[in-house]
Amino acid sequence: MDGLQAVRYTRGRLLVLDQLRLPHEYEYDEVQTSEEAFDAIRSMRVRGAPAIAIVATLALAVELVNQDFSSATVVSQQDYINQKLDYLKGSRPTAVDLTNAISLLKQVIAHAGQSSNEAATVREAYIKAAEKILQDDLTTNLAIGRYGAEYLRRQQSPFDIVDEVGCFTTSSSGEQIALEKDDRKMSVLTHCNTGALATSGHGTALGIIRTLHNMDYLEHAFCTETRPYNQGSRLTAFELVYENIPATLITDSMAGALFAQRKEEKNISAVIVGADRVARNGDTANKIGTYGLAVLANYHGIKFIVAAPTTSIDLETASGKDIQIEFRARHELTQISGAVVEVDGMVNTSKKARVAIAEQKIDVWNPAFDVTPYRLIDAIITEKGEVVRSKTGTFDFQAIMPERW
Ligand code: MRU
Repeated sequence: MDGLQAVRYTRGRLLVLDQLRLPHEYEYDEVQTSEEAFDAIRSMRVRGAPAIAIVATLALAVELVNQDFSSATVVSQQDYINQKLDYLKGSRPTAVDLTNAISLLKQVIAHAGQSSNEAATVREAYIKAAEKILQDDLTTNLAIGRYGAEYLRRQQSPFDIVDEVGCFTTSSSGEQIALEKDDRKMSVLTHCNTGALATSGHGTALGIIRTLHNMDYLEHAFCTETRPYNQGSRLTAFELVYENIPATLITDSMAGALFAQRKEEKNISAVIVGADRVARNGDTANKIGTYGLAVLANYHGIKFIVAAPTTSIDLETASGKDIQIEFRARHELTQISGAVVEVDGMVNTSKKARVAIAEQKIDVWNPAFDVTPYRLIDAIITEKGEVVRSKTGTFDFQAIMPERW
């Protein structure tokens, strides 16, 4: 296994890691059509806002490479692509990255059709733009990691940070005293999975944790189990162990007790989460449980940071109350899947194997996401830098996204 990857892509071939089988199995499925991508996204074999956009748009690219469009005209090719994109958009409603990617790709093919009479030009323009979304995502995540780590170091240290490795304080006589590196190490908590498995690599919130670790500024990472789908215990724990990052798993219900601790590695400096959709005022939809963590962090005086690429920011949506929240099937709450069970005397790790963990007739309420109000968020870290609250109290994205404002 050469680095954790949700997606493996070469032109004409898309392999998607089946995340439902993790941590039991590390297996890729080939995705050849938009319909297969829709199914992989809907069933959460691939999940995480950036990865959803990448798989949906690349699956259509694969279709355009491998299927016969020799009789297509510019208009019929554009219609085909637009219809498939509209269909893919319905796979999961809350994450906005796919919607933003679709708007971009529709513009690209409209433009390509104006400058050429060849359907092949339209196809090529689409494929290149979809491939660029994949490439840009990694660059974006590395930048988020850097900006996030820098932001947290500034919050953590009351001292002047001089360079990447040196940190100094000034004595009363004006003398600069170098500080031990360990004085500035910090422990953080993250929720859900926002790492390499949710993106093209490195990750967003988990990317910041990776960067802190690489810079030797991470004392300890805590990850929540993230019920009901266990993206934290199945995926984030898997990534943290894979990367040898010092980490501890807790259940979602343990966060308050953890925040109340104030000693050694349990002294949490920040909660870092990802985003599925950030509204224009900064209200943020993310994995169910995020809002509760924000309230707890606020109560305990712990920084609450959202890490989100600008592709997760939705300037068309004024506030969180306008964000559509996805509801998931009842069995995702009342059963666990992918369980190791014995069938006819054989150990079976099939993702179809389900074990009841609740009374099966109980009514369930199963929203996949919640909305954290902007007031509870200290900073939103993007690939263009950090955004803090404006004078009116809301977040102001104008400086980093003037073209979309
Ligand atoms: O339901 P999921 O697993 O797709 O939810 C994922 C999240 O909530 C992530 O925090 C978000 O998509 C950001 S991933 C970089």
